Amino acid sequence: MLRFDVTHALPFLPQDWLTGRLDALGRAQDQLLKGSGAGGEFTGWVGLPAAVDQAQQAALERAARTIRDQSRVLVVIGIGGSYLGARAMLELLTSPNYNLLCRDTPQVFFAGNTLSPDAVTELLDYVAEKDFSVNVVSKSGGTTEPAAAFLLFRQLLEKKYGREGARQRIFVTTDPRAGSLRAWAEEAGCATFAIPPDIGGRYSVLTPAGLLPLAAAGVDVAEMLSGAAQAQKNLSRPGPDNPAWQYAAARQALYAGGKGIELLGCYEPHFRFFGEWWKQLFGESEGKQGQGIFPACVELTADLHSMGQYIQEGSRNLFETVVRFARSRTACPLTVQAGDELAFLRGQDLHHVNEQARRGTLLAHVAGGVPNLLLTAGERSAYWAGQLVYFFQFACGLSGYLSGVNPFDQPGVEAYKANMFALLGKPGHEARRQSLAEAGLV
Ligand code: PA5
Repeated sequence: MLRFDVTHALPFLPQDWLTGRLDALGRAQDQLLKGSGAGGEFTGWVGLPAAVDQAQQAALERAARTIRDQSRVLVVIGIGGSYLGARAMLELLTSPNYNLLCRDTPQVFFAGNTLSPDAVTELLDYVAEKDFSVNVVSKSGGTTEPAAAFLLFRQLLEKKYGREGARQRIFVTTDPRAGSLRAWAEEAGCATFAIPPDIGGRYSVLTPAGLLPLAAAGVDVAEMLSGAAQAQKNLSRPGPDNPAWQYAAARQALYAGGKGIELLGCYEPHFRFFGEWWKQLFGESEGKQGQGIFPACVELTADLHSMGQYIQEGSRNLFETVVRFARSRTACPLTVQAGDELAFLRGQDLHHVNEQARRGTLLAHVAGGVPNLLLTAGERSAYWAGQLVYFFQFACGLSGYLSGVNPFDQPGVEAYKANMFALLGKPGHEARRQSLAEAGLV
């Protein structure tokens, strides 16, 4: 089980940080489990790990094998929750250098998360000479960034393999019924996978949105799901010992005490994109109605040499949450000659050195006025990654309900789209275009 340690935040917390929130946590837990709170229609992820659709899972494994057999490159097209979870898990469980290191599995590139012509052209050029497949992921099926990228990659596939060949290389992950992408895929006869209607983008990594590209890359998705199922079981027990209750309560108490920024850190570079996934999870779930903890992340120890000064001595409105892996996968003993300036490290393993850096940093940051929360997982494995995903999703739901918001909508994301569509002249956006014109912006 994940271990949550609040000890190094206690000096900054009022005595009743947890006891004062037990009633509210009990209600929040109930709402999450029953789907009876705000946005309850999007809480399908709560029971998902223990109720995996085995037929869909088998079809997903078959599709992953097909992708591996027919392609050297998989292009995963999606944005936000339809992209970050897959990339986070891929980098955490393989390597940020996966594309250089993979041998029997395809390289995986992510597209459709930008409108930069340079970025998409560079990837189109790279795959043009290689056998490749495309997994387009969009719950709504209508998001502009992935739609534009899909158009370009589909045209390249059709040019390279013909219509029928392209059809066999396109894998569509979207809503089971709604949306133009679903309609297109059924018309074209492509392989399709469903993101359940009751699971929103940033809670969808354990659906085919995350699982198909991960399985294609050789990640043990069954182990991930089993870790998540274990966390589901652990966290379904209400009470002050529940680590998700403690994390949600500590965050909200620190926020109430003026700590408006949470820095998520980890001493593994493999964790960097997990931080990006986590930022979206908490930022989009809680940042509304003029409130919310600002989620940021740091990669340690690298960022101690860039952000360390600020964390130690800058504005005292931060708290840190560190994810720690108790064991490293590899042993890396340091051989140092006597008399060398690094002689004090002789015979030590690099994991031990990393741990002392973590402990030293924790003591320094706490002394500098930065409360620290610590979450320990066993190791960097699919099982523990599944536990981490479920833990953060569940704690985010609780924390959102504690702060009185709907953690499952994202009304603010629409604002830029309305302006962009008006500026691009999309039908239906004439009134906004007119008001932009009147303000001299068109
Ligand atoms: O969490 C969310 O719902 C969003 O981040 C979406 O995942 C993102 O906007 C992409 O949407 P879609 O999957 O519909 O293309």
